[in-house]
Amino acid sequence: MSTPQARRLAMDILRRTMDHHQDLQAAVDDVLAGVAPGPDKGLATELAYGYLRLRGRIDFILAQLLKNPHQTSPVLKRILGVAAYELLYLSRIPEYATLDWAVSLVRERLGEPLSKVANGVLRNLVRLGRSVHLPDYYEGKTAGQAKFLSAWCSCPLWLAELWLKAYGKDKARAYLEASLQAPPLGVRVNRMHPQGERLRQDLAPLAETRTDWGFALKQWPDFLDEAVAAGAATRQSLAAQKIMDILGAEHWPSPVLDACCGRGGKTFLMTELGKTVWASDVNVFRLRQLKGESRRLGMSVPAFRAGAQGPYPLRPGPRTVFLDAPCSGLGVLSRRPDIKWKRTPADCAGLAFLQDEMLRAAAELLPSGGCLAYVTCTLNPEENEGRIEGFVRTHPGLGLLRQAQSDPAEGLGEFFYGAVLKKG
Ligand SMILES: C[S@@+](CC[C@H](N)C(=O)[O-])C[C@H]1O[C@@H](n2cnc3c(N)ncnc32)[C@H](O)[C@@H]1O
Repeated sequence: MSTPQARRLAMDILRRTMDHHQDLQAAVDDVLAGVAPGPDKGLATELAYGYLRLRGRIDFILAQLLKNPHQTSPVLKRILGVAAYELLYLSRIPEYATLDWAVSLVRERLGEPLSKVANGVLRNLVRLGRSVHLPDYYEGKTAGQAKFLSAWCSCPLWLAELWLKAYGKDKARAYLEASLQAPPLGVRVNRMHPQGERLRQDLAPLAETRTDWGFALKQWPDFLDEAVAAGAATRQSLAAQKIMDILGAEHWPSPVLDACCGRGGKTFLMTELGKTVWASDVNVFRLRQLKGESRRLGMSVPAFRAGAQGPYPLRPGPRTVFLDAPCSGLGVLSRRPDIKWKRTPADCAGLAFLQDEMLRAAAELLPSGGCLAYVTCTLNPEENEGRIEGFVRTHPGLGLLRQAQSDPAEGLGEFFYGAVLKKG
């Protein structure tokens, strides 16, 4: 069986992302770069993502089975954690195969005595059966909503507390439970492309949910790879597209300065809406990726390096400034589950300060009647409605036209916040 290699690859991905703070997807790409195509790649990716989504729940269960959970070596905890993920959530792998690789790996890394501990813990885990798949197991062993949500929904306690305070019990739980699932695959069809209309028709029957030109798919059909290569479609989550629809991007006055353009996901969405867009970002690597996207889509967008705290050398300036702001990313935990184990409340406070600076520079750059659009991919009032409402209070020249936040009932598993302000 080739699976032991997949477990070693998964361990390497987890070491890079958790011990060396590499982004999860970048760690996956680096580790799998030299690996021959085959099932190991898929299994290693699934183990790394799945374990990180459910790590809090799994650690909670393991803590009930270990004698001294707080003194257990982190290496042992991680091997047990990945093995527990396999035993609990991957039905296609036989139990004996999981026990075999996990116990052997613990023996190799930590010696014979701990391999016996690993064997005992994993066998006891199997004996727990269905109970650990039900919330009652966690409710009965935790005191209070926040601790229950932290265990059942696999997140740090501070995050459960933040969302309970901000959104209440039901919504907090819905956001957290949605963040545990892999999100659907998103695609945006390029309405300006000659193949666009045809592609839209081909995708319609495959979509779980859709907008006019955006689709959420369970499976990625082969024909889409060609369409993406030809510039007829772009990978982009439907939740990211929807926030732009809801904020009325179609009606923002041109030219638009996309001041945190990144690799251009929303830059080209706006270009496809017929906007004249100027793109800037502080990150040169992202600007290079945007150039690549520009070539792929056959759309030319002027791009330059600049910090969105300004000042900008733009005369005349844009009529809309779009800030797809750097944020804590708590709305995209389903796609980037490493974030919840890396972020701290102090990070959120630092980001809020930067966001304020960007809002101030954008407001200064705009002419009277200009539009300031602000988007984050986080669920944190301090970076979202609190930030914007506070900004409007201290800048009476700006009026709040619209605010929106993705809802868990949409079933897209990713959450964005956005606001549109108008300069008087
Ligand atoms: C949420 S991402 C943007 C995603 C992009 N708009 C898209 O749709 O693909 C935030 C971006 O802000 C950029 N950024 C971070 N700090 C910045 C700053 N001080 N000034 C300008 N851009 C900044 C990051 O490099 C990153 O590309």
